[in-house]
Amino acid sequence: MKIEPFLVEQWLNKYEINVEVNISETCVDPFTVGEFLALMGRESFLEELRETKLTYGYIPGSPSLRQGISDLYESLKPENILVTGGAIGANFLVYYSLVEPGDTVISVAPTYQQLYSVAESFGANVKLLKLRWENGWLPRLGELADLVDAKTKLIAINNPNNPTGSLIDENMLHSICEIANDIGAYVLDDESYMGLYIDPDDRVPSVVELSDRGIATGSFSKPFSLTGLRLGWIAAPESVISRCELHRDYTTISNGVIDDALASLAMENVDLILTRNLDIVRKNYQILSEWVEGESLIDWVPPKAGTIAFLRYSIDLSSEELCKRLIKEKDVLLVPGSCFDLDGFLRLGYGNNTEVLKEGLSRFKEFLDDFR
Ligand SMILES: Cc1ncc(COP(=O)(O)O)c(C=O)c1O
Repeated sequence: MKIEPFLVEQWLNKYEINVEVNISETCVDPFTVGEFLALMGRESFLEELRETKLTYGYIPGSPSLRQGISDLYESLKPENILVTGGAIGANFLVYYSLVEPGDTVISVAPTYQQLYSVAESFGANVKLLKLRWENGWLPRLGELADLVDAKTKLIAINNPNNPTGSLIDENMLHSICEIANDIGAYVLDDESYMGLYIDPDDRVPSVVELSDRGIATGSFSKPFSLTGLRLGWIAAPESVISRCELHRDYTTISNGVIDDALASLAMENVDLILTRNLDIVRKNYQILSEWVEGESLIDWVPPKAGTIAFLRYSIDLSSEELCKRLIKEKDVLLVPGSCFDLDGFLRLGYGNNTEVLKEGLSRFKEFLDDFR
């Protein structure tokens, strides 16, 4: 089966391991095992797992983990949750379970490429709903209505958005769900960055709470800093969960029991983790925001949520050339906008370690000084 190369993953695979200062990371500073257990107040947790048998785990995720994840939503039960191998596994499983050749799938763009390239590889007719700088990187409802056709199976959005950090508000989410409902389509919302609001008043609900055709995918990597567990989930009506379970039997028997136990522990202490992470994200956002204001060659639509900023630069270099020179000359990693089919932009992650962000910005400034 043919599939387009996943540009952002290929770029990161090639450069992230050896670079000295990585400011392209999208996770909130991942925990070490020790830091995590200390924050949970359970330093001896691994010792407590000695009697845990390393057999297959619960197929859809353990009851405690599904309960904990469902508690993140206002109106969901554990039966609405299916635990997967990361949000990447969750998105893939939704497409594998629901999309058939000839279906129309509409996806916002730019976004995490998986949301449209996987649909295309399953034989869907993919239509892109363009997010534009001049519209604050938000979709236009009129354009969405024009793209919808009788074969539309699914509308994919990504809220908060990777790579722009834009946030669709509740009203617009309702309207998108209505457009989908009118044609009997699903709305898949990749909510991997949910919870990470710069301004707490910007909080938006999950699509799964707004529509009985709403499907959300979530991640332990970004808001919970447990990237190495490789866990995520699908939150959806039970009818969708059972279709996903049917297909999941062919790709995953269960997730790892140790991963499940650690993720369950995290779900008992969501507030502690989010307090730590919102602190990091908001502090780093401030540092980045001041840097952008003082930098004449860089401009942005300030991100509203998540860990990512999409910077526009005014230098006569392609984004790939710029990023390669930045690696070579300053040992700093960013992601070129070309990975999102948007040259003239750079993706920067501001959720990581504050000292790393400061060092990366200072080296990037030196690099830009040569162009003034
Ligand atoms: C929008 C989006 N969805 C999904 C993923 C995959 O996340 P996970 O680590 O949970 O598989 C990423 C990772 O960068 C992402 O940005």
